[in-house]
Amino acid sequence: MKVDGKDMRPIWFDRETKTVQVIDQRFLPHKLIIEDLNTVDDTIHAIKEMFVRGAPLIGATGALGVYISLVQAKNKGVDNDYLVSECTRLKGARPTAMNLFWGVDRVLAAAIKHEDYKDRVAAALDEALDIVEEEAVNCRKIGEYGLPIIEAISKKKKGKQVNILTHCNAGWLACIEYGTATAPIYTAFDRGINVHVWVDETRPLNQGSRLTAWELGKHGVNHTVITDNAGGHIMQHGMVDMVIVGTDRTTRAGDVANKIGTYLKALAARDNNIPFYVALPSSTFDWEITDGIADIPIEERDPDEIRYVQGLCNGKIEQVLVPPQDSQAANHAFDVTPARLVTGFITERGVCRATQKDILSLFPEKKIR
Ligand code: MRU
Repeated sequence: MKVDGKDMRPIWFDRETKTVQVIDQRFLPHKLIIEDLNTVDDTIHAIKEMFVRGAPLIGATGALGVYISLVQAKNKGVDNDYLVSECTRLKGARPTAMNLFWGVDRVLAAAIKHEDYKDRVAAALDEALDIVEEEAVNCRKIGEYGLPIIEAISKKKKGKQVNILTHCNAGWLACIEYGTATAPIYTAFDRGINVHVWVDETRPLNQGSRLTAWELGKHGVNHTVITDNAGGHIMQHGMVDMVIVGTDRTTRAGDVANKIGTYLKALAARDNNIPFYVALPSSTFDWEITDGIADIPIEERDPDEIRYVQGLCNGKIEQVLVPPQDSQAANHAFDVTPARLVTGFITERGVCRATQKDILSLFPEKKIR
């Protein structure tokens, strides 16, 4: 996607210096800082501390992390036990996003097919870069498949503004290009449909007000930042036509883990008869589980993320304490929206209802035989 006229992705491989580089998203929108990932520890730190975040991007970073582990290991990289233990460390960086396990395991499998060290390194890099490109294509397809849903609403409203609510950041910063939840929005906007996005600020780390608002603004999409608690009210007043969110992990039966607060939006949408869509690439499905509430691990992060709010003050990024210093805080980072509250999934293979049967009709190779 373009930032001030320049093509930009949140992660890339610099072929000249042979370095993996990422945008450090912690300081957006106020500072655009680029970091190099040279070691497995750098990669784990970048994922844990959320320089990189969002399920598909975490997956791509983990995938490139396997390549980094091989480069760092030198000839020790032919030792399978060593490589597997580095991959286990990478997969431990964050617990909820399925893509991390998927990306790391896919590159590991491609690398260990080779005995020779140099072949291993080359195979790991090729596989990781394939993942990066595939996820970009998947997001573009999600945009194409989601477009008719927005077009239909626009037609029904006789071309009047289509109001879409989104939560967190499931845009290109969370993916590689286009985003998942934002892909249908960008596609509709680029085709001339009058779209407006309600952007949930998404406390505690404000991925909505910092990142989604920044992305949409850079692309020229009309948007308004709202508090996380405003969604129900604007839905009751006819100000929301549809909700689209991303997901960190979705079960084969359609239960959706996404940023904390997503479930409340789904409840409010159902109460107000507003369609609630989840956009995801197939790398986010966990094909092993059906019950999201019982089986999806929910990350609990540092309570200081709740206590302190970050922003720009006199040109400097500052953090300020909000509650009393000694109050306890609990930071549950994700919640699970049951499949029954989801109108449909928008995937790279098309749109389906949130039932196991319908999901498997798009992904028949995942049927248990
Ligand atoms: O904690 P984060 O910022 O990694 O959480 C991100 C989200 O919840 C996104 O909605 C999700 O990963 C989907 S990204 C396409």
